[in-house]
Amino acid sequence: MCGIVAYIGHREACPVILKGLRRLEYRGYDSAGVALLNGQLNVYKKKGKVADLEAFIADKDIHAHVGMGHTRWATHGEPNDVNAHPHYSTSERIAIIHNGIIENYAALKKHLQQQGHEFHSDTDTEVFVNLIEEIQKQNHCTLEEAVRLALHEVVGAYAIVVLSKDAPDQLIAARKGSPLVIGVGEGEFFLASDATPIIEYTNEVVYVNDYEIAVIRNGKLDIRTKEDVVQTPYIQKLEMELDSIEKGGYEHFMLKEIFEQPKSILDSMRGRLELEAGHLNMGGVRAFEQKFMNAHRIIIVACGTSWHAGLVAEYLIEDLARIPVEVEYASEFRYRNPVLSERDIVIAISQSGETADTLAALELAKSKGATIFGICNVVGSSIARATDAGAYTHAGPEIGVASTKAFTAQVTVLTILAMIVGHRRGTLSDVKLRELMVELYTIPQKVEKALELDTEIQQIAEIFKDATNFLYLGRGYNFPVALEGALKLKEISYIHAEGYPAAEMKHGPIALIDENMPVVVIATRDSSYEKIVSNIQEVKARKGRIIAVVSEGDTTIPPMAEFVVEVPHTSEVLMPLVSVVPLQLLSYHIAVLRGCNVDQPRNLAKSVTVE
Ligand code: M6R
Repeated sequence: MCGIVAYIGHREACPVILKGLRRLEYRGYDSAGVALLNGQLNVYKKKGKVADLEAFIADKDIHAHVGMGHTRWATHGEPNDVNAHPHYSTSERIAIIHNGIIENYAALKKHLQQQGHEFHSDTDTEVFVNLIEEIQKQNHCTLEEAVRLALHEVVGAYAIVVLSKDAPDQLIAARKGSPLVIGVGEGEFFLASDATPIIEYTNEVVYVNDYEIAVIRNGKLDIRTKEDVVQTPYIQKLEMELDSIEKGGYEHFMLKEIFEQPKSILDSMRGRLELEAGHLNMGGVRAFEQKFMNAHRIIIVACGTSWHAGLVAEYLIEDLARIPVEVEYASEFRYRNPVLSERDIVIAISQSGETADTLAALELAKSKGATIFGICNVVGSSIARATDAGAYTHAGPEIGVASTKAFTAQVTVLTILAMIVGHRRGTLSDVKLRELMVELYTIPQKVEKALELDTEIQQIAEIFKDATNFLYLGRGYNFPVALEGALKLKEISYIHAEGYPAAEMKHGPIALIDENMPVVVIATRDSSYEKIVSNIQEVKARKGRIIAVVSEGDTTIPPMAEFVVEVPHTSEVLMPLVSVVPLQLLSYHIAVLRGCNVDQPRNLAKSVTVE
């Protein structure tokens, strides 16, 4: 949610910043801007994408060795040139970029207006920069001191970078609740919301912690807390490959990521599923073994697609480990007064590891004494760092806003977790464990096979691209898959879609079915197969247009459906890893055929760091 990037060093700053902004564009793409410090403090910003900004600055003087840039996902104020970042202070001597929300901005703004500050935008960020200016004026202090004092006044979340005309070789940054990484090069530094703009210059990074301020000047990095206590920067080595953040010949990141799933699922099993040795390992679970043994309850908190992975985990953990599971929307959980005890384990699932609601939900659970286990994709992310233990999904960077490979990697990790805990608790026998391990091992090949359906699905997409509504139905393990299929379609093609447990349909949604309604039914062979066949009959009787996802070799359903997509058969508990693939492809092709921007759907951002 908003991307920030900054540079100070011997290179031309602007090209580094623009390239970084293009990498961060998945975080927001309403408007973009840069501020460059070269004796002057020049701000250039434009509504639209980074490409619009590039066109706008083509004839400007962009020579500078210090600068910063921002790509916006609007919160306060509509997307336009004025609300775009960076924002100047009233004197135009200071500029700021900001990712987050300042909750007390209205009160601060009123006070600053009384002190004579002028505001041009509708943003909370412009208040922040004027607050810094006012504090500096009142206290006759350095910029660094003014930023530090301002952090005591603002309430909310931020990752900021501040430049001042009066401090020409200095860059100041701070964070609370929004991510900030510093890349440490040879006499140069890179700052960004994540490591993707940094990776091609250096693999040495420092993750800034909440309430820390970083000051870079004279080739040195100084980090302090907002109480002015000096911190020793902890430099970590990045393991990310440059290839993993490029499109690699695919038209869209989303398509690349769908096709990467055989590999990303394998990566999420690597070192965890050792078939020959007959072992399952997961460091985080081992560390918590007694907690899992004695858990009264597992509560899963997540949002969006990660919440759907959590629903699959509910089935898995209850089935295999016999521990009661509740799956909660993090945004609701954090504002309830949930009953939690020290015998509860809270699992937070998040691709980005930065989702504000999920982070707040786990902090709440922590404060009530529950044990927190994290499942994140982004290494070093806020959620990963806030948990007691956890497991990374190792899916590699996911850039497409619509989550695909992160979902299957999350489900894989959760499956292994459920298998380990079930086996240790004695609810999953040696024989059943072995069978599942063997089957899990085959999943990457089965996903590969499911991906071969691409052309077939493209043809189905052609037929349904102009539909205005879709229903997705599934039962058991395929119910969360129905929800996920519907979410994928909504978010990238803007077609209204609903996911339902197939049997619930007769309690309401069946009224929607007529000869125009496409109904995607995930009806692979499992314990509720006969039941879902009846549900298909019910749809057919009302002339719904059935697109059925079935197990290879099914002969019962094809005569009832208008279109049939056959996926390889696997165990019921592993089926979501395979059955979700055709739904990802269907939404992708429909969106492309409708001319939608698949990787950057309207109103969305990859990482939702505001509530
Ligand atoms: O990074 P997270 O997994 O915490 O993100 C949660 C949701 O914002 C995310 O899954 C969102 O729903 C995606 N756009 C779904 O494709």
